[in-house]
Amino acid sequence: MERVLREGAFRGETHIVTGSGQGIGQAVAADLAGHGAQVVLVDLDEGRLKDASAEIAESGAPAPIVAAANVTDEEAVKRAVATALEATGQVNGVVNCAGITRDARIPKKSYEDFKLVLAVHLHGTFLFTREVAAQHWHPLFKQNGNQPLDDGVNRFIVNFSSVSARNGNIGQIDYTAAKGAIEAVTRTTAREFSGYRVRVNAIAPGPVNTPMLASVGEAGIRAMGAATLVGRIAEPEEMAHVICVLADPRISGYITGQVLQVNGGLYLA
Ligand SMILES: NC(=O)c1ccc[n+]([C@@H]2O[C@H](COP(=O)([O-])OP(=O)(O)OC[C@H]3O[C@@H](n4cnc5c(N)ncnc54)[C@H](O)[C@@H]3O)[C@@H](O)[C@H]2O)c1
Repeated sequence: MERVLREGAFRGETHIVTGSGQGIGQAVAADLAGHGAQVVLVDLDEGRLKDASAEIAESGAPAPIVAAANVTDEEAVKRAVATALEATGQVNGVVNCAGITRDARIPKKSYEDFKLVLAVHLHGTFLFTREVAAQHWHPLFKQNGNQPLDDGVNRFIVNFSSVSARNGNIGQIDYTAAKGAIEAVTRTTAREFSGYRVRVNAIAPGPVNTPMLASVGEAGIRAMGAATLVGRIAEPEEMAHVICVLADPRISGYITGQVLQVNGGLYLA
């Protein structure tokens, strides 16, 4: 993937990317690794993770650490964060990207699906956020006499919202609820983690060309593209480049608690 920041921008850093077995998460992991980060790949699907990991290693980037986990499984999330810390001694960044959809209009929406969609997006984001803080950033803060961690180390979280959090979307009461909550969680986490000097932001993409959109069909995808001001849906790499920019303290050191709209003008907030 084409590099958008200077070479080695994230060299020496460890970044956890959930949902990195395919789609946007895979592109994000490849992009961060392409800038030198040691990435920790988290996904449900171990097979996909192995392929994604091999692709990154073959590109010449640092070989990823693979930590298969269900982001809704508290113990599995604890283990994934512990694996990252045991292997590298630190976590600099977390990108909470794992996601699912179970689209159905409200009268037909099963409670099971509603809970599952909330769990993957919202609970998964909470669990990774808590675990990195509980296992790593909060202990560092305590060691520092409960004083702000002004040690010049890059620390960030990027959460995934969606344009549909603000615009609404038919069939997605669960998904839009989760994404709206993730925007709120982003602001609270930014406030709570300011002492750790962690910048916490979210990205709210418009339609992106990934397997998540597959069920929409070609005509649906064309219509989605036509509804934007740039006239097309986005590629996963375009989201990954924005994450790299948010992760880089030299560019985004003064940005925290924000939700960045990356929707091609589909919705003007
Ligand atoms: N594609 C879009 O148009 C679009 C638009 C706005 C926001 N988003 C958001 O971007 C993020 C990535 O979406 P995508 O399009 O790449 O989706 P995708 O379906 O292509 O990939 C999602 C990945 O998350 C993984 N995953 C699902 N449930 C998991 C769980 N419980 N534990 C661990 N991993 C799990 C899947 O295995 C998959 O590899 C999601 O949060 C999604 O809501 C996507």
